[in-house]
Amino acid sequence: MKKKGLITLILLISFMLPLFSFSHTVSAEEISQDPSLEDIKERGVLIIGTSADFPPYEFHATVAGKDTIVGMDISIAQKIADDLGVELQIEDMQFDSLIPALETGNVDMILAGMSATDERKLSVDFSDIYYEATQNLVIRSEDKVLYSSKDDLAGKIVGAQMGSIQEKLAKTEMVDSKLISLGTTSDLLLALKTNKIDAIVMEGPNALAFTGVDDTILTFEGGFEGGDTEGSSIAMSKGSDSLMNVVNTSLAEIEAEKLIPDYLAQAGTYLETAQGSAATESGKSSMTNYWSYFMEGTLNTIFISVVSVIIGSFIGVLLALVRLSNNKFFSFLATAYVEFVRGTPMMIQVMFIYFAVGYLINIPAMLAGIIAVSLNSGAYVCEIIRSGLSSVPTGQVEAARSLGMGKNTALRHIIFPQALKNIWPALGNEFVTIIKESSIVSVIGVSELIFQTRVVTSVSYRGIAPLAVSMVIYFILTFSLTKLLNYYEGKMSHD
Ligand code: ARG
Repeated sequence: MKKKGLITLILLISFMLPLFSFSHTVSAEEISQDPSLEDIKERGVLIIGTSADFPPYEFHATVAGKDTIVGMDISIAQKIADDLGVELQIEDMQFDSLIPALETGNVDMILAGMSATDERKLSVDFSDIYYEATQNLVIRSEDKVLYSSKDDLAGKIVGAQMGSIQEKLAKTEMVDSKLISLGTTSDLLLALKTNKIDAIVMEGPNALAFTGVDDTILTFEGGFEGGDTEGSSIAMSKGSDSLMNVVNTSLAEIEAEKLIPDYLAQAGTYLETAQGSAATESGKSSMTNYWSYFMEGTLNTIFISVVSVIIGSFIGVLLALVRLSNNKFFSFLATAYVEFVRGTPMMIQVMFIYFAVGYLINIPAMLAGIIAVSLNSGAYVCEIIRSGLSSVPTGQVEAARSLGMGKNTALRHIIFPQALKNIWPALGNEFVTIIKESSIVSVIGVSELIFQTRVVTSVSYRGIAPLAVSMVIYFILTFSLTKLLNYYEGKMSHD
């Protein structure tokens, strides 16, 4: 038994080893034929990665009744796409996922108000700088008298966005403050307003966009030594010289034609209408304004769950058959698969499929999410079926066989119908679990319900209400599914 376990482990590790040799060194040959530009033109689509929580650079707004990502960076991206004669496609994800997404080829470039730091230059190349900004602190207005510089926050808790230069500034220049890093700027604002943190280190224009519409918070320049005026650049994969040239030409045109102020003004209009529609007489936005966001999220959650449960069931049945088969080798492989999937977090599986597999073939986030959830669910379904089949007393098989039935006939007519009574409710539970767990695909930017809840948080400037709404929607989904399944289960027991 022990030996078997060891073999499983060695087998698993050797399967995975090739996947870890990622340190992609660019050979001279690759640079000379640098396909970065050709690929985009051939595809006819420029895919940019962004983190749309950063007005006026990039943020969500309702344009002509549809949720759209807008902002200065998006206008720049559109100009580059136009110059290239291709369509623009935007992948929205958490800021700290952007560089991994670029490295694995899931996006062609990053436009996210990203500063060209030396550390980042180790893994990506940067365009010319297109915008410069200050580094600010955002505090609650009521604390105005308490804090007017970064040093006043000694002993206090400050927040910054994960993976940003602001996080680094807080670490290096506010050593006496405690740092809390969160994934999005809307999470940071929520933490500030609910007194979880006392200040946020934020890029100036971003801070002004938020404080301009909300008098419960205010901002001032932090007096940081490092990165006080950091410039934003566009990040591209190392060695994409042909693409870099085109991008820098477009940026030079933007500069020459003084387009940035136009882009910012346009972002400002979107921001105003977004925030205008967010506010009602009570001064708070009603969640009903955002029903379309929740609707899109709910439909995607249902879609991902249904498709994954169907594919997962096929995988599960297949695995169960293989596990129960006489072929020792395949049955061992199936067991190893099930154990491995059950022994690793689904979040890592989702990210692994998206980033690692995306390194080899480019797959959209939604597809990657469905594949990951299906593969995960397959392992659980396999266990459900296996335990369902083995729950049928052996006496039943023996009786069937002694009546002269063949193995398959016995399985089909005697074992399976009885096993189904155990399998069905467990499968139903698996479905309910998938509805809830599929929320994990939000980490790779799939706009399912949790992702959309976060979007609503950022567009409505409210933290708790969106969570409550999404909780109720999840409950309605799972509760009605449970009721439906119970109904069929009840019917089955009368058969
Ligand atoms: N300029 C900062 C940096 O490069 C912050 C950028 C954050 N961008 C965003 N889209 N949230 O680290």
